Amino acid sequence: MQFFIDTGEIDEIRQWAGSGLLDGVTTNPSLVKKSGRDMLELIAEICSVTDTPVSAEVAALDHETMLKEAAVLADIAPNIVIKLPTTLDGLKTCNSLSQQNIKTNLTLCFSVNQALLAAKAGATYISPFVGRLDDINLDGMDLIRDIRIVFNNYNMRAKILAASIRSVNHVSESALAGADVATIPTSTFEKLVAHPLTDKGLDAFVKDWASTGQTILKG
Ligand code: G3P
Repeated sequence: MQFFIDTGEIDEIRQWAGSGLLDGVTTNPSLVKKSGRDMLELIAEICSVTDTPVSAEVAALDHETMLKEAAVLADIAPNIVIKLPTTLDGLKTCNSLSQQNIKTNLTLCFSVNQALLAAKAGATYISPFVGRLDDINLDGMDLIRDIRIVFNNYNMRAKILAASIRSVNHVSESALAGADVATIPTSTFEKLVAHPLTDKGLDAFVKDWASTGQTILKG
């Protein structure tokens, strides 16, 4: 499974870009607002930090304007992925962009039918929002599992990008459910590697090694 980070904070992206663990970045209008930055400048800076796929979302709701905005965004860098809402206009725009070989990410996906339509429209990625389904007492992970089954049934190439990730369990469950990607808030990303037994065991190794008086590096 690929790990994307879901953020508009350039410093967080810089930190992870150098780790070798970053496979992509997703942004959305709310994350742009939170960053306090000009969107086009922010997206350009993100693309200067990483050459992995960077999702930049259109603001328009109508097909014609989405196409115009997508042209501006796609022109920023070759690794731009155009993020579109999973609406009829978003699907039409996805279809047009896929014919131009411009990568797309269909976002705000909450049903198998939406995912099917997005894949049919040629979406590169579809983003089912796990956390927001959990928020209304549904099981967001069921959606990931169901989309995986349907995409496998019809050998659909669209990648399942698990989004609205709220916990480290969402990440592992997304992998178990067969998601191709999880886009993870930085705060959750940082917790993925942590385990108290690893820390406890390493402390013991360090103490025992120190007691041997040995060194690996001589001189
Ligand atoms: O960026 C898309 C998605 O990850 C948003 O997540 O937490 O606002 O539901 P959230």
